[in-house]
Amino acid sequence: MNDTTIDEARAAELRDKLADELKEAGYIKSAQVEAAFRAVPRHAFVPADTPLEVTYQADSAVVTKRDEYGVAISSVSAAYIQVAMIEQAELEPGMSVLEIGSGGVNAAMLAEVVGPDGQVLSVDIDPEVTARATELLDAAGYGDRVKVITADAEHEIAGFGPFNAIIVTVGAWDLAPAWRRQLAPDGTLVVPLRMNGVSRSIAFRRANDHLTSTSAVVAGFVPMQGAGQHIEREFRLPDAHGHAVTLRFDSGAPDDPSLLNGVLASDRSEVWSGVTVKHGVSFADLHLWFACFLPGFCKLAAEEGTDLAQERKTWFPFAGVRGDSFAYLSVRPAMDGAGAEFGARAYGPHGQEAATAMVEQIQAWDKQARNRPEPTFAYWPTGHIPADLPEGTAALNKTHGLVTISWPTG
Ligand SMILES: C[S@@+](CC[C@H](N)C(=O)[O-])C[C@H]1O[C@@H](n2cnc3c(N)ncnc32)[C@H](O)[C@@H]1O
Repeated sequence: MNDTTIDEARAAELRDKLADELKEAGYIKSAQVEAAFRAVPRHAFVPADTPLEVTYQADSAVVTKRDEYGVAISSVSAAYIQVAMIEQAELEPGMSVLEIGSGGVNAAMLAEVVGPDGQVLSVDIDPEVTARATELLDAAGYGDRVKVITADAEHEIAGFGPFNAIIVTVGAWDLAPAWRRQLAPDGTLVVPLRMNGVSRSIAFRRANDHLTSTSAVVAGFVPMQGAGQHIEREFRLPDAHGHAVTLRFDSGAPDDPSLLNGVLASDRSEVWSGVTVKHGVSFADLHLWFACFLPGFCKLAAEEGTDLAQERKTWFPFAGVRGDSFAYLSVRPAMDGAGAEFGARAYGPHGQEAATAMVEQIQAWDKQARNRPEPTFAYWPTGHIPADLPEGTAALNKTHGLVTISWPTG
């Protein structure tokens, strides 16, 4: 299927260079994952017209299928997240692993890590994807080391399991009860979980009646299809010229979004936090903090032609709705040249209150969560949800249970 004129020597050189980078950045931690990454010809699993430089870039996912609206529904995931998730699974030779979401390359690396005595089952809901993965795995010599089947992995895979590890390589909004049932008692479930629109690849282990995290990595994945699909709600707010700003809610959408009609015509307010960030420093944990604690949290997108689109460098796509008003995360140059200061700009009659609520959360994050150890995540299945949660623990309701997020205190 791939172009046979590919420069194999160049591919091997780029793969080794990328392995060094992933090790240096801490995504590759173990000798097994390093060896697996160096062994699998990644370029044999991406569409033939993909430049080698793109294939062998740490953070580029290569889309392999889009739906009728152009939304990516299948891809070869970015190299950094593949190795990070395999590390999170803490696999050993001889283990059995279920990969949810096929593509070939990740399953081939899993086969390398669990070795000839291990087992890899890869499941995808889309028969076109499984056909492609089967063909590419065969061609790359992994045909008898990986079994690929077509199924909606929301449901138990009859005749297989329990697995020492389940690695979900598609964005999940909830944990399917079947995953817990198919996981060995001391197994690890690695899943990119969406929590109010913000995702982390979380490694979960059993802790009595619930699951607790052993690690978490920032991750973004194409969304789950089938029975576990979760639809976000979108509200389009047109300006006076018909160009729109869109607010997208993962959960907690306003009861009466019509209160926001015409909101972009109002005067804009702004409130600044005094909290600064140096250029190039990640603040992904602020997004998670908002997702947990900012009322009316949603994602913001601005069409070309809107005022917001003209000021793209001054804001980030995170917002909070308060009745007839909304505030969005903004930055301005910091006074002392120390990077940028966070604040909130807002539209609507109660914009000042909306912006203040956002700034209070920026300040709370700065005081209680920033530069501290990562939070721990837990999943409590329905029927096992605790009556009380420790103070400061955020809780997000899911269909089959509750996710809690706790920042270390003290
Ligand atoms: C990011 S791709 C998988 C990447 C792949 N593991 C690799 O080697 O790079 C996500 C896949 O999940 C699949 N998928 C979505 N919903 C699913 C479901 N409910 N059950 C199984 N597969 C699903 C999609 O069809 C898509 O091919």
